[in-house]
Amino acid sequence: MEILRTIDSVRQWVRAQRAQGRPIHFVPTMGYFHEGHLSLMRRARDDGGAVIVSIFVNPLQFGPNEDLERYPRDFERDRQMAQPVGVDAIFAPEAAEMYPAGYQTEVRVQTLSQPLCGRSRPGHFEGVATVVLKLFHIVTPDRAYFGMKDYQQLRVIQQMVRDLNLPIEVVPCPIVREADGLAMSSRNVYLSPDERAAATVLYRSLQWAQAQYAAGERDAHRLREGVYAQIAAEPLARIDYVEVVDAETLQPIERLERPALVALAVFFGRARLIDNCLLPAPAE
Ligand code: PAJ
Repeated sequence: MEILRTIDSVRQWVRAQRAQGRPIHFVPTMGYFHEGHLSLMRRARDDGGAVIVSIFVNPLQFGPNEDLERYPRDFERDRQMAQPVGVDAIFAPEAAEMYPAGYQTEVRVQTLSQPLCGRSRPGHFEGVATVVLKLFHIVTPDRAYFGMKDYQQLRVIQQMVRDLNLPIEVVPCPIVREADGLAMSSRNVYLSPDERAAATVLYRSLQWAQAQYAAGERDAHRLREGVYAQIAAEPLARIDYVEVVDAETLQPIERLERPALVALAVFFGRARLIDNCLLPAPAE
């Protein structure tokens, strides 16, 4: 497994892979790996390409009062986790390699970046779109793998790829959860034991929504209120948002007639956790 620190070394590596006829399969990450990250890498490997993973805690996507400084980092641990999966290369640049002095260009996916996390994290999705477009230009992948845990991020990237005619197939990958349902996240390390136990309410409330939907509930407001009430009843939870939106546009809906998304962001102590579930279109 190659460790690449510079953009030039990535371009060289990619040229060598292509010369051997291997497609490039890319998994962008901020590191501190868990099974969610590894599931993306396995999928990229099973799809039969040369697998390159980036590890870069992107300062541009953190707000001034967010957790950029304390975001967990452990390169050696990440290296040891990626190796047995069959990852071919890790690209782990310094911030100055990605944003040299004088850097000033940003990418904005207008409408999809506004709702949900865009409202509580102004500038976040501009930071994400910008770094992902830069990484796409550096790595020139044939396929790129994104988790549905960050559903709005996935939609923003899909829209950017379409709008800017990037010849890249974006592959959405399912949410990987702990045994008790908590969605895996690098930020779960922020949770105290009490908060960790309390955080299981998120998945329980999403499962409740899925069951209601399966039983025929089609009123988005009632679904939202039900999920909200269950989380609000947990004393350690502080709700940022709970919303039921159109799965494609991420705009609020009233009736569940097309594929919908129940999306939430909730603080437990200092940790802001997100989770979601898709409600498929009702059968005809
Ligand atoms: P990061 O949070 O490290 O996540 C990297 C990728 O792993 C994302 O596509 C994310 O959706 C996926 N992922 C995280 N937790 C997951 C889980 N429990 N199940 C499945 N997939 C999961 O997302 C980012 O980094 C950054 O915003 C990035 C795209 C790298 C741009 O900086």
